[in-house]
Amino acid sequence: MDPSHWFIFIMYVITFTFKKMTACYDGCSCLTDIKYINCSGGNLTTPLRNVPHNTEYLDLSRNLLTVVQAGSFGTLWSLRVLLLKENNLSHVDDGAFSSLQGLRRLDLSGNHLSALGPGFSLGLESLTELLLDHNHLTVLESGTFHSLDSLQKLDLSSNLISTVKPRALGYLTGLRQLHLEGNHLTSLGSGLFSTLRSLEVLGLRGNLISSTEPGVFAPMSSLTLLDLALNRLSTLGYRTLLSIHTPSLHVLLEGNPWHCDCDLQRVFRKLSSIHRVFLDDYQELRCSQPTELQGRSMGEVDVELCVGETVTVLILTVTVVITVVAAIIMAEKNKKNSVAKNWEESVGLDTYCDNYN
Ligand SMILES: *[C@@H]1O[C@H](CO)[C@@H](O)[C@H](O)[C@H]1NC(C)=O
Ligand SMILES: *[C@@H]1O[C@H](CO)[C@@H](O)[C@H](O)[C@H]1NC(C)=O
Ligand SMILES: *[C@@H]1O[C@H](CO)[C@@H](O)[C@H](O)[C@H]1NC(C)=O
Repeated sequence: MDPSHWFIFIMYVITFTFKKMTACYDGCSCLTDIKYINCSGGNLTTPLRNVPHNTEYLDLSRNLLTVVQAGSFGTLWSLRVLLLKENNLSHVDDGAFSSLQGLRRLDLSGNHLSALGPGFSLGLESLTELLLDHNHLTVLESGTFHSLDSLQKLDLSSNLISTVKPRALGYLTGLRQLHLEGNHLTSLGSGLFSTLRSLEVLGLRGNLISSTEPGVFAPMSSLTLLDLALNRLSTLGYRTLLSIHTPSLHVLLEGNPWHCDCDLQRVFRKLSSIHRVFLDDYQELRCSQPTELQGRSMGEVDVELCVGETVTVLILTVTVVITVVAAIIMAEKNKKNSVAKNWEESVGLDTYCDNYN
């Protein structure tokens, strides 16, 4: 081996050993050159102490943490990624992350969080991705997401959310993906999404939504996917979807208890004639009412739905036409009669006059 190879080999061994030697805390692995600490799957009951200030990536997922106290991550100004998923967290102090001003990704999924305080988002101005799925949240309060100016993805799926307070989502003006699948939402009031102009994906699958205000989706001028599958919708207004002015919108609607009638059929016919709206799962939609159509595919019965109305309209039209024609005939007849009568009268008078003369 020539000397330069020896040199490289020795440097490699030193670097490798140095890396391993700094292999840090019990049950964790660390890479100092990329400022990375992985303590996933350990037995930590409190966040690590004395973590180097320049750490950028800290994985504390699958441990036994129960709370995140204010100041827990006090000096980690360089942190970009903080993973706390699948712990046993039931509480996060207000301002717990307030010093993490460079944080981009925060994963709190798979915990037992049932509420977030008004100071939850303090300091998280750079955060682009927040994962809170698989927790026990029930209400989204107005101020919870106040500081999340840069947030692009918010995952709140598989919680117990039934109430979204006005303006709870109002600060998230840069949001591109909002996941609310698998919650307990029952209705969508207007104004709920009014500031989400950048939103591209809205997941509402698997809630209990039975009504939506006609303009609720209208402000979302970037929307490309709206997933409303597996809800309680029985009908749909034209304007609910037509008010969304995006170049191309995919909508998922299967697994709702559709009330198949002529009105609904008109809405779907109209929607499918609009080139920017794609009803991707139209063939999967099933009627739940009326009972005689239960379980039938909407695509299959849609030609029948307006038949009743067409017949009614036809009968009405025929009735009107007959009435009008009858009226005209009667009028004509009356006119003739009165002409004849006048004529007879005048003839009679003339005769009388003649006789008189
Ligand atoms: C972190 O450590 C865990 C457990 O040792 C491992 O399964 C996981 O792949 C590591 N994560 C990364 C990003 O290397
Ligand atoms: C965690 O604790 C269990 C039992 O207490 C032990 O078997 C396991 O090795 C520990 N894991 C780590 C990463 O220390
Ligand atoms: C999780 O926390 C709860 C209390 O909040 C406790 O009863 C439970 O034993 C904890 N589970 C684990 C696996 O530590």
